[in-house]
Amino acid sequence: MSTEAPSQQEGYYTRRELLYYGWLSSVTVATVAAGGAVVAFAYPRFKEGEFGGKFVVGKAEDVAEGQVVTVREGKFFLTRQGGEFKAFYQVCTHLGCLLRETKDGFACPCHGSSFDTNGMLVSSPAPRDMDEFVVEVVDGNVVVDTGKRSKGQSRSV
Ligand code: FES
Repeated sequence: MSTEAPSQQEGYYTRRELLYYGWLSSVTVATVAAGGAVVAFAYPRFKEGEFGGKFVVGKAEDVAEGQVVTVREGKFFLTRQGGEFKAFYQVCTHLGCLLRETKDGFACPCHGSSFDTNGMLVSSPAPRDMDEFVVEVVDGNVVVDTGKRSKGQSRSV
């Protein structure tokens, strides 16, 4: 017959061990739950037709050569030049005012920067060309992804 207390026998836990394992499992569960919540909150979820997501502008054949289509919700100008589609971000590369379409391209009402129809900087103070969004033609439709923007080339004029 054993003279040891049941907690000191093999196969039993001491009260201290039991509390330690309980505390450890609680901390683990809380950490995993908090991490999952942070990831779920930080992960961007943009719907189609919402800035930051994709925009289906329309049939590619409906956009004429040289035409500029303004999509206010997407904050971009869609153009077609040489058969290629480009989507320029409407926000000025200087201090962020909204650009306007002109007969020669785009102009900023705030400090007078202007850009040609290719988004290239024509007059300062803007430091670079217009930013562009990725454009794809999917099943004959022009799709602009406002979540993928490339910065315009730096230029001094
Ligand atoms: S914000 Fe456009 S030129 Fe300054």
